Amino acid sequence: MAEIRVSHVDKIYGATKALDDVSIDFADGEFYGLLGPSGSGKTTLLRTVAGFISADRGSVVIGGEPMEQVPVEKREIGMVFQNYALFPNMDVTANIGFGLRVRKLSGQEISRRVADVLDLVQLGELGARRPHQLSGGQRQRVALARAIVTQPRVLLLDEPLGALDKALRVEMQVELKRIQREVGITTIFVTHDQEEALTLSDHIGILKDGRLVQQGTPQEVYHRPADRFAACFLGDANIFDGGRLPSGEGGGSVAVRPESMWISMARPEDAAVIALQATLRQKIFKGATVTCLLDWHGQVIKVLAKGDELAGIADVGEVWVSWPREKSMRIPADR
Ligand SMILES: Nc1ncnc2c1ncn2[C@@H]1O[C@H](COP(=O)(O)OP(=O)(O)O)[C@@H](O)[C@H]1O
Ligand SMILES: [Mg+2]
Repeated sequence: MAEIRVSHVDKIYGATKALDDVSIDFADGEFYGLLGPSGSGKTTLLRTVAGFISADRGSVVIGGEPMEQVPVEKREIGMVFQNYALFPNMDVTANIGFGLRVRKLSGQEISRRVADVLDLVQLGELGARRPHQLSGGQRQRVALARAIVTQPRVLLLDEPLGALDKALRVEMQVELKRIQREVGITTIFVTHDQEEALTLSDHIGILKDGRLVQQGTPQEVYHRPADRFAACFLGDANIFDGGRLPSGEGGGSVAVRPESMWISMARPEDAAVIALQATLRQKIFKGATVTCLLDWHGQVIKVLAKGDELAGIADVGEVWVSWPREKSMRIPADR
């Protein structure tokens, strides 16, 4: 276990700045979700922390120790990647014990540690199976077990659940969080799935074009996005450009989450509420919720409603869309 301090890291590939002045402190024992679109530098940052690549500028410090001269195998890092490669010809026990054999631990110690970690990932019965005899989720548990059995200081997970289908992914998210809590290991988890990051993380960071756009707790980033990109990347947002909204909403732009809004036939008489007259165009049934698409002076507004909130609202036509004034999230206007 250790805190990780990444300071002013640049990584340049030809004309691409894969990392651009990235500074992040990862606290001891925390689960940090690193989010960003494809190509934003997530994998590059993990590989820099792991030591597979060296930064062109800046530093990585783990547990107070500068890593510049420390090779990958001495950094005490466990890793799981999306395309995890288990050894196909070894059974589960041998796969998990591999790193311990490399470290020349005694047979007895290896058996004990592998048994412990098999219990932890709830694969106690499957030690004798080969990878091809396991489901995708089980293979991922083996990969995780193999990464933590050496008791690393840091766990790096690069889209580890990306290959799993939705239901299994949700199940594994819960498992992953449980295991991380039990072991208490500092974890950096890369995903492009914002819901996954919000669910699992103590802190999240959003990367875009190699730059850290914003970081904070999931609540902070969700409720106070730094800019339009952060607002739209982490969940849905209706963006009202500077000055478009009625009085009191001038200055910068405003972002409003679809779930903060509601639809009514009559104008709400409440000074604490902002109300726009708009045209309801479409209701999209999503089971527990209904997504409503409205037109307001040529701008599409998206409202997320629970089914019963739409009683008495026609399928299309003139309505009012409203939200509490304090749900207006201010963001800088785009230049
Ligand atoms: N070895 C490399 N050589 C050249 N360009 C690279 C290399 N690795 C990554 N890049 C580039 O750096 C940027 C960030 O890549 P990456 O860290 O893999 O993004 P992410 O994991 O967020 O999808 C991309 O533009 C990518 O093409
Ligand atoms: Mg990647």
